[in-house]
Amino acid sequence: MADLSVEFLGVKFENPLVLASGILGITGDGMARVIEHGAGGVTTKSLWAKEHKGHPNPTMMGNEHWFINAVGIPDAGPEKAAEELARYRAKTDAPMIFNIVGGMMEGFGEIAEKVAGMGPKIVELNISCPNVKDEFGKPMACSISKSAEVTRLVRSKLDEGGAADAKLVVKLSPNVENIVTIADSVIEAGADGICAINTLGPGMVIDIETAQPVLHNKFGGISGHMLKLLSVALVYQIRAKHKDLPIIGTGGISTGRDAIEMMMAGASLIGMGTAVHFRGPEVFGKVAKEMNDWCDENGVEKITDIIGKVHANT
Ligand SMILES: Cc1cc2nc3c(=O)[nH]c(=O)nc-3n(C[C@H](O)[C@H](O)[C@H](O)COP(=O)(O)O)c2cc1C
Repeated sequence: MADLSVEFLGVKFENPLVLASGILGITGDGMARVIEHGAGGVTTKSLWAKEHKGHPNPTMMGNEHWFINAVGIPDAGPEKAAEELARYRAKTDAPMIFNIVGGMMEGFGEIAEKVAGMGPKIVELNISCPNVKDEFGKPMACSISKSAEVTRLVRSKLDEGGAADAKLVVKLSPNVENIVTIADSVIEAGADGICAINTLGPGMVIDIETAQPVLHNKFGGISGHMLKLLSVALVYQIRAKHKDLPIIGTGGISTGRDAIEMMMAGASLIGMGTAVHFRGPEVFGKVAKEMNDWCDENGVEKITDIIGKVHANT
């Protein structure tokens, strides 16, 4: 049996597989269930400073190759989030990453202040959702200056709110010309790590019988299996510039082989979201077993030995 444990930003994960934000991360019970099924940790769905309504249904569709969603980040607000966190904590000590979102700049500051009081060890800053553009404009992750400004703001609010020890991960968008320049800017502004990537697009699906868009929002972010080709490349590029940067590699991972590939590109943790729709919450235990089998077959004793391995050969 290989040692699959990973230390990420000072937090120990029993294995590198983490529930990605927005999938089953709504209730404490749902997140605890994912841990029971073998995840090393969870990411909350994006938390807002106040209640936020998402988009009307239909909000998602897909198959085992691709997925599209425009849920629009619905959230019941921080009081409810604190309740769910307590329910999670009553069931497990496994690490939780607090994902936060804000719409406009001041909204990011407000939620950072609120989350600082919840005792986070790792905060993930979602500046890259393509589905709330109508409300708030282009995601901040598409601008070098805005992504730096929001990172600086959130860092200062965490510090002021008593969470100076919390580490800050910024979640980047694939919908940019050069993701490395965005990574450079948020690192310079105080990010301790990167999550790459959020959904691609937006994309669109048309029902040809009714000649109407399938999603109520018309457009949605693309995730799932096909995204792995892009997420692996972008993680590789970020790691090539920032050698020891802690990275959560997210996008299209659904098997042990996918996860190994993403780690070789440079990820220390693996986010899995859409795979839960197709392999169920059991996907975490299954992928961990597949990783273990691969390690045994290939003489790998510690999973951390493969992080960024492809860079030694390129
Ligand atoms: C239904 C759905 C809801 C999502 N909600 C969020 C969210 O609230 N915050 C966030 O940062 N990312 C959200 N995402 C993006 C995922 O966390 C992830 O970055 C993306 O889907 C790519 O990974 P995957 O192919 O494993 O799903 C969502 C994705 C899906 C499919």
